[in-house]
Amino acid sequence: MKVGIVGAGMVGSSAGYALALMGIVSEIILIDQNEALAVAQAEDIAHAVPFMSSTLVNAGDYTDLAGASVIILAAGVSQKPGESRLALLERNAAVFKVVLDRVLPVAPDAILLIASNPVDIMTQITTRLSGLPAHRVIGSGTILDTARFRSLVGRHLGISPQSVHAYVLGEHGDSEVLAWSSACAGSVPLTSFAAQVGSPLTQDVRATIDHAVRNAAYKIIAGKGSTYYGIGAGLARIVKAIVHDQRDVLSVSMVTADATGVQDVALSIPRVIGAEGVVADLFPVLDDEETRALHRSASILKERADAIAL
Ligand code: 2OP
Repeated sequence: MKVGIVGAGMVGSSAGYALALMGIVSEIILIDQNEALAVAQAEDIAHAVPFMSSTLVNAGDYTDLAGASVIILAAGVSQKPGESRLALLERNAAVFKVVLDRVLPVAPDAILLIASNPVDIMTQITTRLSGLPAHRVIGSGTILDTARFRSLVGRHLGISPQSVHAYVLGEHGDSEVLAWSSACAGSVPLTSFAAQVGSPLTQDVRATIDHAVRNAAYKIIAGKGSTYYGIGAGLARIVKAIVHDQRDVLSVSMVTADATGVQDVALSIPRVIGAEGVVADLFPVLDDEETRALHRSASILKERADAIAL
């Protein structure tokens, strides 16, 4: 089981590190236009392997992607402090055109996992350029925002984030939608659980959590320049669902035929992930306000994706 990673910056290499520690694939190939960087990252990660697993980690070139089951695309630029994800679009679209021309001929059967921002539009562009079926071009989307949401709700309630079932939908970015109305702790609706444990989800608590989730990346980027551990683990989690055909429900981005009336737009909803890529979509039940917010998010993404000339 081979996984390729194109882009050996902090996001790509953090995904490689998380995957290597998990020991769920036999080989990881790191590729970067800066070959010395790819070699250095691969060696550094390989030195962690004897402590945790037996995954082979190597730098390589595009021909080494032959036979890869999944290829993570993490190439391109990332946000500077204060910059939105959407501001990266033109630069990263140009990078992806070059990368896809190299990747597709050698690995036509791989599932493509997009990490570069703005991830939803990069997923839409990759689907368009590659001609692959939409379910085989997956964007990391809101997997990270969902983790941030579950983590903050878990802290508020004093329970493990793994027992919080709550999703962030729509754009991985400023217009994302926290789906409070369908959230549960265990099998109990969140509001009811919160009341039972004496930690009610007041409007203030919800607003604080919403703000923290929506602005997490801006805060981290202001503090240390970029975010990478969270998304690295999220990417590794998606790879695990694919290579083990786990049929996990994860919030990821994919071109979606109809999202609240917006057609053919890449955005996140919970989806079932297995060896074929996205196996099923799970549209959550939303209240009116959430539905309106998801429609707005879908419309923003659709407009930006349609405007980009390729
Ligand atoms: C994040 O949300 C910057 O998209 C990246 O951490």
